[in-house]
Amino acid sequence: MDIKVPRGTQDILPSETAKWQVVEELIRETCRVYHYKEIRTPIFEHTELFTRSVGDTTDIVQKEMYTFQDRGNRSLTLRPEGTASAVRAYVEHKMFGYPDQPVKLYYMGPMFRYERQQAGRYRQFVQLGIEAIGSADPAIDAEVISLAMALYQKAGLKKLKLVINSLGDTESRVAHKEALVNHFEPHIEAFCSDCQNRLQKNPLRILDCKVDRNNPLMETAPSLTDYLNEESAAYFEQVKEYLNILNVPYEVDANLVRGLDYYNHTAFEIMSVAEGFGAITTLAGGGRYNGLVEELGGPASPGIGFAMSIERLLLAIEAENNTWEDLATLDVYVIAMGQAAKKKAVELTYSLRQNNITAEMDYLDRKMKSQMKSADRLKAKFVLLVGDDELEKQSAMLKDLSTGEQQLVPFNSLLEQLQNNLTTQLEEEKND
Ligand code: HAM
Repeated sequence: MDIKVPRGTQDILPSETAKWQVVEELIRETCRVYHYKEIRTPIFEHTELFTRSVGDTTDIVQKEMYTFQDRGNRSLTLRPEGTASAVRAYVEHKMFGYPDQPVKLYYMGPMFRYERQQAGRYRQFVQLGIEAIGSADPAIDAEVISLAMALYQKAGLKKLKLVINSLGDTESRVAHKEALVNHFEPHIEAFCSDCQNRLQKNPLRILDCKVDRNNPLMETAPSLTDYLNEESAAYFEQVKEYLNILNVPYEVDANLVRGLDYYNHTAFEIMSVAEGFGAITTLAGGGRYNGLVEELGGPASPGIGFAMSIERLLLAIEAENNTWEDLATLDVYVIAMGQAAKKKAVELTYSLRQNNITAEMDYLDRKMKSQMKSADRLKAKFVLLVGDDELEKQSAMLKDLSTGEQQLVPFNSLLEQLQNNLTTQLEEEKND
């Protein structure tokens, strides 16, 4: 027998699953902190869901879907992405009626696209997707983008580039579409047959064409930015302002068009700029989709979200020479010297964990030096030292292992101090 996994799919072997679990846990934890709740939708949906939302002139719908007839002659499709399903569920379960809008959802699971296999591109891949549906506040755009960036930063990635653009509202897009048709029409014979079809139906898709990518008319094509009306431009300005407030660095790229039809206003992509990451550098992509809920039969409800593949995240971690063990770093290792201090150490470790700080301590009554070695091996960020002297002062010695600095901190302000230090360290890493 010579049956292998289908092209574009992969087995994740027991030696590999540990790193998946670490990353999945990091994702779930981050979603929890940002208050996004998990939704699980079917792996297949009615084909029409994707033709209506992703768009019937897109590569995904035209070339990449796994579509089949079931025994009842229904046309079904293995989901190529998750936004359509999340929005379908939002409409079907009348989530627009929930008192707290936006409804903030996340999903993590396999998606299927019949694409050419290469490093970082698969036919079955796992996407984490985030959707915030029911608000047109530019602050939520910044929240969604910052969540994506926070995930990569927590995974230890530093070589990141965030690119944003505005695709404007319907009025802006109509004006831009007209300009595109005028630009391409006189020379359309030089383009592939797909682009010729796209010219009247959806000329924006021409800019996204992989075949005609190098045609000089692509570079001189009218830019959407020049066609944004006042309202769209003002919205984009506010998104940028909120990103500045959140201290999230970005570049504006007027040529960023996304490969799915439901987008308007904010669009963004996050790339890895790590050397050796390979040809495909996009880690995540997303944007606003203000017309999609209506398109799928619900009341007008604006939405925004993004998706990223876990496979590419793992590749990026490797490309930056980080190991997945780096992800599982400890916040604090608590070192106790003597039996009285041990009791305090147990209490401290427990209370740190209760407060979401990853903590470990010694359970072998080893010498201080051995405990210190463990802290190093486990890549703890901080060490808390408690001995008789410290007990007497109702304090612990807090040592920052990255700088070697240490300070005596009273037990009752330890938690606050540690939380501050951990936040400062994260900020510094971000600005590195
Ligand atoms: P997308 O840009 O088609 O957007 O895909 C998002 C991410 O999924 C990509 O940046 C990449 O990480 C991953 N991805 C896509 N195709 C493949 C593949 N063949 N192999 C590995 N990874 C892949 C969407 O899917 C939208 N639903 C995102 C979104 C959510 N927009 C709003 N909400």
